[in-house]
Amino acid sequence: MILGICGSGRKEGNTGALVEEVLKGTGAETELIWLIDLNLGYCTGCMRCVFEGNCWQQDGMTNILYKKMLDCEAIVLGSPCYYGEVSGLVKSMMDRSIALGYMGIGKESENPMHGRKPLAGKPGAVVGAVAGHGIEHTLEVMEKFLGYSEIKVVGKLGAVAGMDDVREKQDIMEQARGLGVKIREALRVKQK
Ligand SMILES: Cc1cc2nc3c(=O)[nH]c(=O)nc-3n(C[C@H](O)[C@H](O)[C@H](O)COP(=O)(O)O)c2cc1C
Repeated sequence: MILGICGSGRKEGNTGALVEEVLKGTGAETELIWLIDLNLGYCTGCMRCVFEGNCWQQDGMTNILYKKMLDCEAIVLGSPCYYGEVSGLVKSMMDRSIALGYMGIGKESENPMHGRKPLAGKPGAVVGAVAGHGIEHTLEVMEKFLGYSEIKVVGKLGAVAGMDDVREKQDIMEQARGLGVKIREALRVKQK
């Protein structure tokens, strides 16, 4: 399963359309998770995950998304550009993911989230939607996040769409599908 993670609160918006199109381009079994549905808490920086191998908070991150990120073959992460940055939803998801991908320290345990980089080697892609300016940094932040987890970023796409619907921009939608194809190819190479 290829996992799409969308950090826009607007399900009719452009970020979701981009993530969906990348997923479609993979031609594989996919699942799209909307962070807005997960009732995410903030990372409190307590670092209990370092010692306990998991986050103490009980929400969609601990109960849904960690497992999906571990189980999936590849990740497509999308954010709208807010003030030249990722959305708060994406930032919270990234911070909370420290229990999964960046920890790399602490005792070994039976918990698959503990003391390793369990997402390493999965292909990934990042997409972002913006009205005008600021998408470069938005994409860079997401790329860096995937990089910390040693996810291999196969490509990125920033859609500058003004107030328009990106679904009507054929060139952008084509590029999104192309990104999906790149993920499929990366998975094929990995399986060989
Ligand atoms: C809080 C907020 C901040 C934004 N900041 C920017 C910005 O820095 N640059 C810009 O060009 N557009 C900005 N926008 C516009 C969004 O990037 C644009 O509408 C984008 O399509 C939103 O994604 P969505 O369609 O998935 O909701 C902002 C919108 C919001 C709500």
